[in-house]
Amino acid sequence: MSNGLASVNNSFTATLKDLIEYPKQGILSKVLLKDNNCQYTLFCLAKGTEIDEHTSTRNAVVTVIEGQGILTLNNEEIALNSGVFVFMPANAPHALQAKENLAFLLTLSEHPHPKNQVSQKTIDIVKSTAPLLKQHGEKITKKMYEIMFRNHPEVKEQFDMSAQANGSQPAKLATAVYSYATQIDNLSALQSMVEKIAHRHVATYVQPEQYAIVGESLLQAIKDVLGDAATKEVMTAWTEAYQVLAEVFINREQQIYCRNNS
Ligand code: HEM
Repeated sequence: MSNGLASVNNSFTATLKDLIEYPKQGILSKVLLKDNNCQYTLFCLAKGTEIDEHTSTRNAVVTVIEGQGILTLNNEEIALNSGVFVFMPANAPHALQAKENLAFLLTLSEHPHPKNQVSQKTIDIVKSTAPLLKQHGEKITKKMYEIMFRNHPEVKEQFDMSAQANGSQPAKLATAVYSYATQIDNLSALQSMVEKIAHRHVATYVQPEQYAIVGESLLQAIKDVLGDAATKEVMTAWTEAYQVLAEVFINREQQIYCRNNS
């Protein structure tokens, strides 16, 4: 496999300074190496170049080789100069300004929720339940809220109970669960959905430890509604799959809480 200056099948050595080439303006980037998990790219930014705020779905490390710049990460300004190392977790908003010509190595590593965190078997089983979730989705989510509010009445105050009564919240949750079932092996397709839900969760003060409550209620509801179709295998797969989805939300929501507090 060769997707850059080097090939993953052979060892490779370079003196990064020798590879630096500054454009007159803007950015010149060179992919040094790419494998299944990481991509190593040399970035050379001409003095004055600015990259507006954006996010990456993968963890990233900036290792500065030379020059001067400012990296704004989660609203915090970090001075970039030779030898500075910055780790940026996936989805952290960041922007960059090159005060002088600036060269750094960017290492993108596989995002924290790669496909292989869920086994192929789990993916197959979860996907096979999608038609059932489409058919019984709202029955499952209505049941889920019933179970949750019965066992944990304290969470009720976070919810708009009229959206429970008119069925709109169970319908939204059913759509989210179904979308996840169909896209479990392509989480990036769910990014806008995750963004919207995570912001709603932050607005209603959802906490990481509450994911276990929702998880146990949702799994119980799936079991109750699907009956015989909720085999041991299906339940094991959904338990694993729920944990991955919960982590996606927990991580994103922590970032939003941090940003709101800064
Ligand atoms: C993976 C698990 C979860 C999924 C898929 C999920 C999904 C959703 C969706 C689709 C919405 C509607 C967003 C909108 O209005 O556009 C929502 C809202 C909400 N969720 Fe979650 N959620 C999850 C976990 C949790 C947890 C752990 C809590 C904590 C109790 C929670 C509490 C809420 C609240 C309070 C709202 C606002 C509802 C309202 O306005 O009445 N969710 N969620």
